[in-house]
Amino acid sequence: MSYKPWDGRFAEKTDALVEAFTSSIDVDKHLYKYDIEGSIAHSKMMAKQNIISNEDAKSIEEGLLKIKEEIETGSFEYSDSLEDIHMHIESRLVDHAGDSAKKLHTGRSRNDQVALDVRLYLRNETNIIIDQLKSFLDVIVNFSKKHIDIPVAGYTHLQRAQPVLLSHHMMAYFEMFKRDMERFKDSLKRVNVMPLGSAALAGTTYNIDRELTAELLNFPEVSKNSMDSVSDRDFIMEFNSIASICMVHFSRISEELIIWSSSEFNFIEISDAFTTGSSIMPQKKNPDVAEIVRGKTGRVFGNLMTILTLMKSLPLAYNRDMQEDKTPLFDTVDTLKACIAVYKGMLPNIKVNKENMYNSTTVGFINATDMADYLVTKGMPFREAHSVVGKTVSFALSKNKEIHELTVKELKEFTELADEKLFKFLTTESMIERRISSGGTATSNVKTAIDEAESYLKANS
Ligand code: ARG
Repeated sequence: MSYKPWDGRFAEKTDALVEAFTSSIDVDKHLYKYDIEGSIAHSKMMAKQNIISNEDAKSIEEGLLKIKEEIETGSFEYSDSLEDIHMHIESRLVDHAGDSAKKLHTGRSRNDQVALDVRLYLRNETNIIIDQLKSFLDVIVNFSKKHIDIPVAGYTHLQRAQPVLLSHHMMAYFEMFKRDMERFKDSLKRVNVMPLGSAALAGTTYNIDRELTAELLNFPEVSKNSMDSVSDRDFIMEFNSIASICMVHFSRISEELIIWSSSEFNFIEISDAFTTGSSIMPQKKNPDVAEIVRGKTGRVFGNLMTILTLMKSLPLAYNRDMQEDKTPLFDTVDTLKACIAVYKGMLPNIKVNKENMYNSTTVGFINATDMADYLVTKGMPFREAHSVVGKTVSFALSKNKEIHELTVKELKEFTELADEKLFKFLTTESMIERRISSGGTATSNVKTAIDEAESYLKANS
């Protein structure tokens, strides 16, 4: 394990502090399978191009597969003196494949090698996240179907605004997470570009075939500019941006579940399996999962800031700063995957307190807009109706009553257009079912939205 590929021009040994400081092995060892996959493709391509012999390529491949096994069974040795996963694997390969191993690094550099490894890693992880999001969308649709007809207060400014169906409220999250999934899908186009063969920064003098390497690794295209290839980390910034937006959505739904499960709202109960207790207050059942997801949002935003700040002002091409790109990427991948997984388990088991939700739609002047709408149907301009209802609300407040608890006689003080028929407009059912404008909360609309969502998920499965 003493083979240090770059020590030729050095007379002195590297200081142990420097070895520890510059080493990234603890982090980038997670890239081992991609490093091996990329190296096998590179050596196959070189054999095909007569840069190395078929025998060399064969012993390189066999040696690399042995190393893979060593890593996976835990017998592989790591050491700070070998810096990163690329040098660890190359150094060990010399033990297995001798001189053939020393030919593997022909026509490439660690700079294009690491770019390749991270792209292979991110392509795989993005596909996993897309699949996870797809099944989470399915969970949202099923939750909405199960609770299709439960009215609940809709809020603006966290003040009761107008009633909606709980299913409509949840299908709003379907739209958000669907956009996230689409964004991840779209980003794959830019991840799926093969950088190997750009070498250190300027390309290489060997007769390599980059298209062949791309084909072997299943990349639809090769990168166009060698300097850009080794210094481009846009795909990591993009991934972190999309993940941050997705975490905004997780944070918002978490906030709602937390508020809804408070005694003040008492709209839902999160199952015992997805809540925890307090060490001092025996009565407590805390929505910790939702809180931790909300908290983890900060760390994903932090990772985005890290990668943006890391890349800003770096001159072309590769700079060692870029070694710091992996922690914010790996951490975001792991965090986001964990959040989707817990939500997939938590959401289906939430118990809905139908009665409290319904009751929230009958108080707090939530039907004020509907009274105004009624007056409009009788010919009053909306602005005038708004003002009439405003005065009515103020009067009702002083009597400690809701609008629908006033008598027709009292209502007529504010407008001659008020009559018995108005009260039908003010019920929860009427408020919901009359909102048939496209995208509105009427049950028929929500059913259509659910049908469309199901067809979308089927078409994308
Ligand atoms: N560990 C390095 C990284 O992750 C690999 C590339 C190092 N290249 C170099 N010339 N030192 O960025």
